[in-house]
Amino acid sequence: MTISSQTASHKIGATFGVGWRSVVGVWAFGMAIKMPVLDLEVSRVPAMAYDGFEERLFLVFWEVTRACALACKHCRAETQSHRHPQELNREESSRLIGQLAELRPPMLILTGGDPLMRTDALDLVREAAAAGLHVGLSPSATARLIHADFAEIKAAGVERISLSLDGATRATHDAFRGVSGTFDRTIAAVHRAHAADLSVQINTTLTRGNLSEYEAFKKLMFELKPAIWSVFLLVQSLGARAGKHRPGMRSPLGIRDGREVMFISHTGVVSLSGFLPFDCGNVREEHPTEIYRHHPLFVSLRDNQALGGKCGRCEFNSCCGGSRARAYGVIGDPFAEDPACVYQPKVAAASYKALV
Ligand SMILES: C[S@@+](CC[C@H](N)C(=O)[O-])C[C@H]1O[C@@H](n2cnc3c(N)ncnc32)[C@H](O)[C@@H]1O
Ligand code: SF4
Ligand code: SF4
Repeated sequence: MTISSQTASHKIGATFGVGWRSVVGVWAFGMAIKMPVLDLEVSRVPAMAYDGFEERLFLVFWEVTRACALACKHCRAETQSHRHPQELNREESSRLIGQLAELRPPMLILTGGDPLMRTDALDLVREAAAAGLHVGLSPSATARLIHADFAEIKAAGVERISLSLDGATRATHDAFRGVSGTFDRTIAAVHRAHAADLSVQINTTLTRGNLSEYEAFKKLMFELKPAIWSVFLLVQSLGARAGKHRPGMRSPLGIRDGREVMFISHTGVVSLSGFLPFDCGNVREEHPTEIYRHHPLFVSLRDNQALGGKCGRCEFNSCCGGSRARAYGVIGDPFAEDPACVYQPKVAAASYKALV
């Protein structure tokens, strides 16, 4: 099992168990990650970030629908119980898959909402897999998932399924998700996935409300044996002051929002991530490659020189760059320094000013 702290697509670095070997690697559905490892999983994705991020993507998150039967309080997707009438339809979705295949992102994550709220979800998986994309699926733990045929999900081409577990106990998780029974359904889904030999990732959003269960989480992970346990942290944000939270994110090895990562909304709007809601164009009108390569926000956020504060002068900014989502969420500026980073760059602010 690999335990990672990462981004969404997007998360913050966290400290894990004592004595575990720390390695730098890449998880099949994740960003570049610094991860303590129990049994290092050998990913099919190249284990290092590749050059050429101006041209190519590492990871695309496609929110195939915002419909979801759950209504978690923290959810960035502001989910609806029904599919949006302006959602990308089947034809538009097929065209998008073809375009993404040209761009060849190593990973395409079908997320939501609940992707299984689309009756054609597995058709989209089949199409994407046939086009050569590595497909991940992030369903919600509802009755729909429990009744799904996990062998069919795997046969369709899903390489890994990710499930959210935000409490180590039934009470905590169900309170977090707002619907009783989701803990049991999530555990059942993990077992069903194992039985179908479908690789599982568990995503956990740590908050003040469940942090005390950290040790219990670890114990549970040893029992559930996911391929990856991915830990997210929520940070207080500008949005949070208006009643919302945004996630903190960290993605070492140079992969970050807008840099090898793209988010496509249910209506086709392209943005840097699900947590940086800038409209950079719509796949209905523009090829996603064009948007990724040429939209000024994508171009400038890839530029380490454009980063502000200590991220701008940090000797690690080409392999880190900080969380752009957290900078935006907390400071309101996606170019600002990562407000959660405790590292002090070697070049002090005063000397840096003298240099530039
Ligand atoms: C939007 S959900 C979609 C997939 C699926 N419905 C689920 O909940 O796993 C993807 C992941 O984003 C997380 N998420 C949603 N809103 C978030 C937020 N504001 N901050 C951090 N993580 C968030 C969810 O907890 C979940 O792990
Ligand atoms: S299950 Fe996922 S998409 Fe649905 S409301 Fe919860 S976090 Fe949002
Ligand atoms: S200061 Fe350096 S280490 Fe810290 S987030 Fe910014 S780039 Fe990364």
